[in-house]
Amino acid sequence: MDFRCNDVTIQRMKTSIITISDRAARGEYDDLGGPALKKAAERYQWTVIGEALVPDDKREIQRAIREQIAKGAQLILTTGGTGVALRDVTPEAVREIAVRELPGFGEVMRMESMKITKNAILSRSLAAVVDRTLVICLPGKPSGAVECLGFVGGAIPHCVEVLQEIPTSC
Ligand code: MTE
Repeated sequence: MDFRCNDVTIQRMKTSIITISDRAARGEYDDLGGPALKKAAERYQWTVIGEALVPDDKREIQRAIREQIAKGAQLILTTGGTGVALRDVTPEAVREIAVRELPGFGEVMRMESMKITKNAILSRSLAAVVDRTLVICLPGKPSGAVECLGFVGGAIPHCVEVLQEIPTSC
């Protein structure tokens, strides 16, 4: 699949990927979600400019997002920390620094994922705008993260173009 706008003005969207997991950050297991998202982003012809791995800690998550924005990320994909465990704080961390939330992304991700697993109802996946960057928070399971990205991918280039104030007729 090729998620580009009809105008094709933002073919090589600068994308950063942040894995959010206490256990992966402590080295207790390998980060599989980040590499899976990187592969998916490259398949969509987006340019991955940064990767980070942080624990489930609000300040660390916010710092990682700001670092990737400073590097020039137009799109940030996070994986992990969207569930119901008390350590899952990704939505809270992102909402605190966001200028606005885009509820349609979370709605579609949950609706489509419910066709795959009943547990999708437990995900608090979301998308929000931080500065001018689109931040999409995906589930922690690598296959779930890639599936959810696929459900919303069609709207991403246009959204990023609008945020970057690139003229578009899409
Ligand atoms: N969505 C899809 N498409 N596929 C999945 O496997 N896993 C669910 C859900 N959404 C899943 C999914 C599960 S089991 C949980 S607990 C929540 O996402 C939250 O995951 P997280 O806490 O790892 O972010």
